Amino acid sequence: MLSHQQLQKFATEASAHAGETPYMLTDLESLREQCRKFAKVFPNIKLFYAVKAFSDVEVIAAVAPLVAGYDAASTAEIELVLRQGVAPERIAFSNPVKSEAAIAHAHKVGVHKFSFQSRGELAKLAKHAPASEVYVRVKMDDSEGSVALSSKFGCVPEEAVELLLAAKALGLKPIGLTFHVGSQATELPAWPNAIYRAQKLVGEARGKGLQIELVNLGGGFPVQYKTGDPRLEQVAATVNDAIGALADVTYMAEPGRFVAADSSVIVSSVIGVEDREGRTWLYIDVSTFHAFMEVFEFHEFLHPVLSLRHVGQQPGGLKDYVLTGPSCDSYDTMSLHVQLPADMQVGDHLLITMAGAYTVVYGSEFNGFKVPPRHFLNAA
Ligand SMILES: Cc1ncc(COP(=O)(O)O)c(C=O)c1O
Repeated sequence: MLSHQQLQKFATEASAHAGETPYMLTDLESLREQCRKFAKVFPNIKLFYAVKAFSDVEVIAAVAPLVAGYDAASTAEIELVLRQGVAPERIAFSNPVKSEAAIAHAHKVGVHKFSFQSRGELAKLAKHAPASEVYVRVKMDDSEGSVALSSKFGCVPEEAVELLLAAKALGLKPIGLTFHVGSQATELPAWPNAIYRAQKLVGEARGKGLQIELVNLGGGFPVQYKTGDPRLEQVAATVNDAIGALADVTYMAEPGRFVAADSSVIVSSVIGVEDREGRTWLYIDVSTFHAFMEVFEFHEFLHPVLSLRHVGQQPGGLKDYVLTGPSCDSYDTMSLHVQLPADMQVGDHLLITMAGAYTVVYGSEFNGFKVPPRHFLNAA
């Protein structure tokens, strides 16, 4: 949830901005603040920032002094992090299925930590990254309403120990387990359920003589798009309690959304207002395909939207709009119900808030509309 102060800061910047819309305004201090908050409420969890959430070089650099490392998903992400002078030992290659070329490249540049979820991946790792540290991705129950990842990733828990033993037999170093309870995991019991299950697997693996030392909680830490979404402190209460049950392992996590979401607004112009069949349509100059692909995953538009002209005015006279993008595609509609002042006009600017995570990183130039450029505030 954007604080009043943050909103004022973005509104002032956007009002002073003379350039064209759409564009993204990112407060790098917000990213740092989120890292500090994470470290404060999770003193026993190492933070590896998930680069995929918002991968601009300014973001990677801003969080560098505050994170233990980075979760990278591809060769390009590894290269991006290395270019910031980050040591390769601080990178975890947590994409469970990687090309042989990507594994070989990672090994060559000094990345030693890899996730895996199958014997096929182990064979590739043993060949192209011999003796590396590996951790098995286990399918856990996703938090209800999150962007579920277990449909695509993870071995079933019953297979995990066998896979760790197979890693050892191939000369790799099986060091632990990882999971992901779904992005924006607001259903709190999903966290301890997954952690206790992982701890049980650690015990079983140790019982078979393996030296398991790592539980990687993945990402999923939620932000408050809606007032009912849990605060990080609430997640921490349940997570810290659960990790306390097995203290002799290293815990790490790979938050992306939590670090990046609050940092940015996308500033967009209204390009058309139309009343049709009982609905008012607000056409804006930023598209689903630029920045809001997550609407297809969550089946709702997560971002609170404000009219810049009305910031600071008494609320009142709101109206329900269909919020839709500029492209010639009917999928390019963000929401059927956005509440905005009743007098919205062509040329008005919108602040689309909490837009730092999983927005412009998905951007395409479909129909010739350019992905919004970024403007960064508070570079160190
Ligand atoms: C392996 C892995 N780690 C971390 C993340 C980041 O998740 P989130 O942004 O929900 O924190 C993801 C997201 O897809 C992921 O796949």
